[in-house]
Amino acid sequence: MNPDLQRLHPYPFEKLNKLKAEVTPPAHLKHIALSIGEPKHEPPAFVLDTLQQNLGRLVNYPTTKGLPELRQTIANWLTRRFDLSSGSIDAERHVLPVNGTREALFAFAQAVIDKTAGDRTQTANTLPPLVVSPNPFYQIYEGAAFLAGAEPHFLNCTVDNGFIPDFDAVPADIWQRCQLLFLCSPGNPTGAVIDSDTLQKLIKLADKYDFIIASDECYSELYFDESNPPMGLLQACKDMGRNDFARCVVFHSLSKRSNLPGLRSGFVAGDADILAQFLLYRTYHGCAMSVPTQLASIAAWSDEAHVLANRDAYRAKFDAVLKILDGYIEARKPDASFYLWARTDMGDLDFAQGLFAEQNITVLPGRYIARESEGINPGENYVRMALVATLEECIEAAERIKNFLQKG
Ligand SMILES: Cc1ncc(COP(=O)(O)O)c(C=O)c1O
Repeated sequence: MNPDLQRLHPYPFEKLNKLKAEVTPPAHLKHIALSIGEPKHEPPAFVLDTLQQNLGRLVNYPTTKGLPELRQTIANWLTRRFDLSSGSIDAERHVLPVNGTREALFAFAQAVIDKTAGDRTQTANTLPPLVVSPNPFYQIYEGAAFLAGAEPHFLNCTVDNGFIPDFDAVPADIWQRCQLLFLCSPGNPTGAVIDSDTLQKLIKLADKYDFIIASDECYSELYFDESNPPMGLLQACKDMGRNDFARCVVFHSLSKRSNLPGLRSGFVAGDADILAQFLLYRTYHGCAMSVPTQLASIAAWSDEAHVLANRDAYRAKFDAVLKILDGYIEARKPDASFYLWARTDMGDLDFAQGLFAEQNITVLPGRYIARESEGINPGENYVRMALVATLEECIEAAERIKNFLQKG
C-alpha cells in the first residue's frame, strides 16, 4: 500500500461520532445537526428539470475538458462577478469543469507538486516540498499534500489576526520550499474574506518564490452585504493588470451557491499553462463531468435570482441566531459563508459533547479541523456551527444553546 495513506487523519466527523457515542442525548428533543456544511435550502427547480430533461445524454462519454457552452457560461459568470477585463478569461484555456471542488482541490495538488524539489536553494533537495494552508482548514488540503508527497505547513487564523493568516510573519525559508499555497476565502470555518491588497502581496510572493496559489472560493456567493461581495483571486490579478492570471487558480462550486451539493459540479479557472497540465492529469485520472450535469450547471451558473434568495435566507438565520446568542457566546457575524465560528470558555470538546448530551444538537469541535502549529491548536476553544437547517430549526437550536450555556 501507499505508505502516505498512513499519514491521513481520521476525518473530523469520525472523531465527532466517537465523542458523541460516549453520551446519550435526550430522546424528547429532536436532533438538530449544525455540524455538517451541507446546504439544506431547496435547489432551483429549473436546474433539476434541466438535469432530468437531459438524462438521455448519458449514452455518451463526456470529455474531460467539458462542453464549450459550459466553459463559456463560466467565463461569462466570472467576468461579471469579479469585474474582470472583457475577454481576459478565455473559455478555451482558462476554465475547466470539475466534479465538485473537493476532488479538484485534491487532484490539483497531485498534478502540481514536484516532490523531487523540496528546497530549491539546495542541490541535495533532502527536504520535502511544502503545501502552505490556513489553520483551521478544509481537511482536503492536508490529505492532498500528504498524498502528493509534500508536507503541510499551517498558518494559524486567530481572532488576533482577524482569522486571516499573518503572511508577513512567514519566514523566507518556508516560502522557498512552498510549491502550493491554499487560500480559503471566504474561509471555512471562520467566514473571513481576504482583501485585494493581501492577495496582491501573495501574488508577488508567488512570483518571487515560484509557487502556485490555489484559492478555494466555494463560499464566495454566500455573503451578507449585497453592495460588497467578497473579492476573489482573479479579481486581484486584474487589479494588478495581470490578465494572464499567472500562478493563480480559483475553485468555485455550485454546492453552496445553488444548494446542489449532490450534483458534484464546480470549476477551476486561471493560469492557462497550469490548467493545460491539470487537464492532462485529469484525462488520465478519469474525472469528466456527465453531460446532463454540465447542462444543469449551465442553467445554474446563468441565474442569480436563486442565489440572491439563498443569501436572504442565510441573512435571516444569522440575524435571528446572533440575536438569541448575544451575551451568551462569543461569535461575530462572519464576512461571508454559512458558518458561525464561536469561542467557548469550556473548551470545544466539552461544549460539543455537553450540548449533544443535554440538547441533542451536534456542532463540530474546532480542534478537529485544525492542527497544532506554533504551539497552539487554533480550533481548540472554538466550535463550528453551520446554519444550514431551516430558519425555525436554527432559532430552536439557538434557544437550546442559550439554555445549555445558562445552565453551564
Ligand atoms: C472550504 C471548502 N472547500 C471545498 C468544499 C467542497 O465542496 P464541493 O466539493 O461540494 O464543491 C467544501 C465543502 O464543504 C468546503 O467547505
